[in-house]
Amino acid sequence: MANILVFDSGMGGLTVYREIRRTLPAHNYVYCFDNANFPYGELSEPALIAACCRLVSHMVAANAIDLVVIACNTASTIALPALRETLKVPVVGVVPAIKPAAALTHNGCIGLLATPGTVSRAYTHTLIAQFAPGKRVLLKGATELVIEAEHKLAGRPVNMVLLREVLADWLDEAVVPDTLVLGCTHFPLLDDEIRQLMPDCQLVDSGSAVARRVAHLLADVPTSMLAEGKGRAYCTRLDAQAQKLTTPLQAWGLSSLEEVEF
Ligand code: DGL
Repeated sequence: MANILVFDSGMGGLTVYREIRRTLPAHNYVYCFDNANFPYGELSEPALIAACCRLVSHMVAANAIDLVVIACNTASTIALPALRETLKVPVVGVVPAIKPAAALTHNGCIGLLATPGTVSRAYTHTLIAQFAPGKRVLLKGATELVIEAEHKLAGRPVNMVLLREVLADWLDEAVVPDTLVLGCTHFPLLDDEIRQLMPDCQLVDSGSAVARRVAHLLADVPTSMLAEGKGRAYCTRLDAQAQKLTTPLQAWGLSSLEEVEF
């Protein structure tokens, strides 16, 4: 059995964890979210790299982690080289699913819905140039939707007026995206609501591809077919708001929520 760390700024990484745990139920999961520095999409690149390296290194050492999943596009598109240099265990990242979207689009128009950080990264622009040549890729960075996804997970209703405002120019143009890349791991939490507004659009995320990659890397680790692994969660600030997440996290198979001590 392996100990797998799944890391994000908030609740978005759960959408990746869900895919990995469904594929590999017999491993143990540590879900860590850096809510003290949330939202990552608004952090400067040096601050983001420093925060991720410090916290992830601590979590790996403190929990005998065998494999790390950076379940955050905003962090993966900038911090993966530094993390791989710092850590001795494999690090799997999540980047926007531009390549599958380019293969799926019929009208040649793709929307990339991500954080302001991710849409501004050189990494993202290289990904588009490399894997979606000749396609029209429209970029939108929306921290307000990251916050809506957090609210939804905590049991609050999604603000559909706000969602419509954010997506407005993709609903009314003559040529609108027929394929939408959910380039932030928070956004699959809003997929029902996005589908209500864009019923003809295919939504693409990277969760299942990450799960396949993790399965490939752990192919040699023996697992029991009988025992299901355990899951627990850590945050960087266990305030009243975070405490309210304890019950929703239990529903995702994460039995406890503690603050990281470092
Ligand atoms: N879930 C994250 C992502 O995939 C980051 C959200 C945020 O903290 O801004 O980009």
